[in-house]
Amino acid sequence: MRDCVADGSVLSARFTADGSFSLHSQSFAESFHSSGGALEEANSKFVLPAQLDRFTCGRCLRVLDVCFGLGYNTAALMAALPKVGGPSLNCWGLELDRLPLRLALAEPSFKALWPKNVVACLEAVSAQGCWQDACRQQSVQMLWGDARQQLRSLPTGLRLDLILLDAFSPGKCPQLWSQEFLQSLADLLAPGGRLLTYCRAAAVRSSLRHAGLELRSLLPKPGEGAGWSSGTMALRLSNDDDQSVPEMGAGWRELSVMEEEHLQTRAAVPYRDPSGMDGAPLILKRRKQEQALCHHTSTSAWQRKWQSVEFRPSC
Ligand SMILES: C[S@@+](CC[C@H](N)C(=O)[O-])C[C@H]1O[C@@H](n2cnc3c(N)ncnc32)[C@H](O)[C@@H]1O
Repeated sequence: MRDCVADGSVLSARFTADGSFSLHSQSFAESFHSSGGALEEANSKFVLPAQLDRFTCGRCLRVLDVCFGLGYNTAALMAALPKVGGPSLNCWGLELDRLPLRLALAEPSFKALWPKNVVACLEAVSAQGCWQDACRQQSVQMLWGDARQQLRSLPTGLRLDLILLDAFSPGKCPQLWSQEFLQSLADLLAPGGRLLTYCRAAAVRSSLRHAGLELRSLLPKPGEGAGWSSGTMALRLSNDDDQSVPEMGAGWRELSVMEEEHLQTRAAVPYRDPSGMDGAPLILKRRKQEQALCHHTSTSAWQRKWQSVEFRPSC
């Protein structure tokens, strides 16, 4: 497949190590998925820690997929739900660009990954922006545009069980990792709700904690080169003791001492976007200025202290 251009975004096709189709964005200078596998990432970082078996027949699972892209996270989640006897599903997708999903649907091996109902859903969402299956009581609604603005179009009073946050990395797309945006997402979580992301950056974790959420660290797979963590689960604790989330679970553990200390360093200075309208360069510049003035410990001292632990710092 050649490079595809629409609305100034240039996307090129690539296959990840598990054979699943993905894209690289020249505009953001970043790939949509880790080279390890687009499908593998959707399952290990989003579906597994979502613990879908918590949602039994008769319940409604409410999901927000932030940065829908090719649709892997919603598709993997739908494919993991039981064919009969599962919860009903109301899902919303936020996405700036319609092209990634169109390109994915033009790739036969992508469509071959999913059961028929999931392919039908992705095709309808791409063509009409929404999909509904009355028999299974499942629906997916796209809100196309900048996620910061489109968030306001969600139904009033909506409380979500899962938020799948899969934006490009904070250095490339700080708009979607700002303290303000993360607070807005946190405010949408129902008691017991979980925000899941591949991101383990200190700035993002400290903003999620500041937004009132409990943090857990997603475990890297055994033998995976990703180092000390493969992402973050942020939880709105439920008042119901029976629903409290254990410190360790399906693919997560509590933050280690090293990770807690990371949150005391300059890397934890948040991205700020008070108007919800700023571009990446301004948000990055603002944070650099705040980092220069703050009294947090230096991130390089933290790195030296913990250098025996394999990690790729995200400052
Ligand atoms: C890492 S990719 C998402 C991968 C996706 N979850 C998947 O399974 O294919 C990031 C996505 O964020 C979208 N994006 C970038 N800026 C955005 C914004 N301000 N609002 C909404 N979406 C945005 C890009 O178009 C891209 O599709």
